[in-house]
Amino acid sequence: MKYVETTARPGQAASGIPDVDVTLHVNGDVCRLRIDSRVTLLDALRDHLGLTGAKKGCDQGACGACTILVEGKRIVACLALAAQYEGQEITTIEGLSDNDEPHPMQAAFARHDAFQCGYCTPGQIMSAVSLMAEGRARSDEDVCEFMSGNICRCGAYPNIRAAIREVASEGNDASL
Ligand code: FES
Ligand code: FES
Repeated sequence: MKYVETTARPGQAASGIPDVDVTLHVNGDVCRLRIDSRVTLLDALRDHLGLTGAKKGCDQGACGACTILVEGKRIVACLALAAQYEGQEITTIEGLSDNDEPHPMQAAFARHDAFQCGYCTPGQIMSAVSLMAEGRARSDEDVCEFMSGNICRCGAYPNIRAAIREVASEGNDASL
């Protein structure tokens, strides 16, 4: 486990709202931040911790590009305030692989060419990992339904479904 500290900012932000100290547990690291209390979890990860895997698409909870796991459950990080997730186990796409070994879902996405521009892909993969843990990858229809919060503008859906179904059918250990 490593400790990450962001550069301390003055205790008073330009907005006049005092900054807050928040400790986030991200991908096994303990990260201490001093941030505006209104900073979203997505911005804390991307702008303060340099974890840019989770993408900002709509910033309104509608596209799924920012999907991450909190305590193993998927959430959209753009609608979450960082300060509310103190001490909870957060996993981003950067924390999915085991050292240099890709997670089975990452490997399946690569095998099935389940992306074009790749912008939605981290969110798709995080959502798919959670889908497996939820036991909801039983059929193409289920995958379609329970991945509907993750939008792919490139329309790579058939390949995304194929990747998920392969992991599900092979009984791969797609857990974290
Ligand atoms: Fe979070 Fe679109 S950026 S759901
Ligand atoms: Fe381009 Fe999904 S691969 S948005």
